[in-house]
Amino acid sequence: MRETNRMKNDDMNEQQPLDVTIVGGGMIVTDLILPTVYHLQRTGVVGTLHVCDRCAAPLKALKENAELKRAFPGQDFVAHPSLSEPADKVFPDQFAQVLATSRPRQAVIVAVPDQLHYGMVKAALLADQHVLCVKPLVLSYAQSVELEKLALERGLYVGVEYHKRFDRRSLVAKSMYAQGRFGTFVMGEAKLIEPYYYRNSNFQNWFVCDKTDPFVYVGCHYVDLVYFITGLKPVAVSVSGVKGRFPNGNEGYLWANGRVRYENGGLMSISAGLGYPNDAAGSNDQGLLMYCEGDGKSGMIQHDDQDRGVRHSYAEGAGAGGSVYNYVSPDFFRLVPWEGAGLKPVGYGVDSIASNVETMVRMERASLSLEQRREAIRAVSEAGILATPANSFINELVVEAARRSILADGEWVTIVYGDQPHVEERRK
Ligand SMILES: NC(=O)c1ccc[n+]([C@@H]2O[C@H](COP(=O)([O-])OP(=O)(O)OC[C@H]3O[C@@H](n4cnc5c(N)ncnc54)[C@H](O)[C@@H]3O)[C@@H](O)[C@H]2O)c1
Repeated sequence: MRETNRMKNDDMNEQQPLDVTIVGGGMIVTDLILPTVYHLQRTGVVGTLHVCDRCAAPLKALKENAELKRAFPGQDFVAHPSLSEPADKVFPDQFAQVLATSRPRQAVIVAVPDQLHYGMVKAALLADQHVLCVKPLVLSYAQSVELEKLALERGLYVGVEYHKRFDRRSLVAKSMYAQGRFGTFVMGEAKLIEPYYYRNSNFQNWFVCDKTDPFVYVGCHYVDLVYFITGLKPVAVSVSGVKGRFPNGNEGYLWANGRVRYENGGLMSISAGLGYPNDAAGSNDQGLLMYCEGDGKSGMIQHDDQDRGVRHSYAEGAGAGGSVYNYVSPDFFRLVPWEGAGLKPVGYGVDSIASNVETMVRMERASLSLEQRREAIRAVSEAGILATPANSFINELVVEAARRSILADGEWVTIVYGDQPHVEERRK
């Protein structure tokens, strides 16, 4: 614990930065990860920045992105493969090659399609790198335990990017729930409907029925959040989906509704989809409602996570989906003027990535021994703010149960805890 305090007292900007490799150059990297890491680079937390994809085309788009150029003048990343390669030529081993030349105990941020996370996180750990992975970490509980053990053995940090934990409203709810101000969660609903135009993106290549679905893709944020706020473990899951075709003809679940049963009998219904109208003020539709039982009265937590009160109507141009009248919440991610050159990324998405990277940086700057690094990792998991495999493993169990359930058209799947947590079909 003394080492953890020493880590906290470190002056972040006066010491050696950490090199960062981002793997994947798609939407989430463009919209959140790269701008955040660029900012950490200019504040001295991050050193050399590498971005790796299976082909050069997404990297070229990142380099040419006008908004990123305006926000981060003079900043750049090393592209793997090089942009001199044909844009669509596929380099399947690109990430392995980058890892082979990485200095030990730097940072890797994994931002590729869900089904690739396990292999890439494992490869990064075996190459002695700290890792931040976009959610969901992996698609099975056994894999999350394996990665947790591997990381701890090597004294490497693994964080999972559940950024809703960093939304101030989530932190307020968590704090007040722990004080008993609401009573005990008993019934709720949440939704996260992403825009229709997502169907035209690279999603159509990987968001297919046998790989993922909207519940696993974004519903999981609210699964994590209810656990983050209440500490209640999910014990059963039923997810039903609605299939449809992407423009390229691939079939995916475009909509999903899941019910999660908790250890205290509470129930949560979560709707998710790729269908928020492009013409609507959006930019997506999301929110959380939780009812709680108190002593002779009830409590309630309600978060409107969509329209947070800022509205624009443009005389020139439009929002991402094409709408002229827009809700423009600054809470998740925005690039805003600041006291330095260009623009600064702000929001809870930024806070979440920054906290994960800064945790790795502190560990390295404190020159901890292997045992001290393990202790520091355990302390982060116990603190329960940053999501780690040790404190967010219920998500893998829910994902595993959800995938089984949706493929069986909504059959209930039970989560069994104890020495060997696992999922199984509900006994009838
Ligand atoms: N709200 C959130 O937390 C949030 C939002 C969006 C995406 N995500 C997650 O981020 C991940 C990526 O999503 P996205 O929207 O950026 O998808 P995307 O399809 O836009 O981008 C994925 C990128 O990964 C690249 N890629 C695929 N295979 C690769 C390989 N073997 N090596 C290197 N690169 C490879 C693709 O070429 C593509 O550029 C998914 O796991 C998704 O669930 C999270």
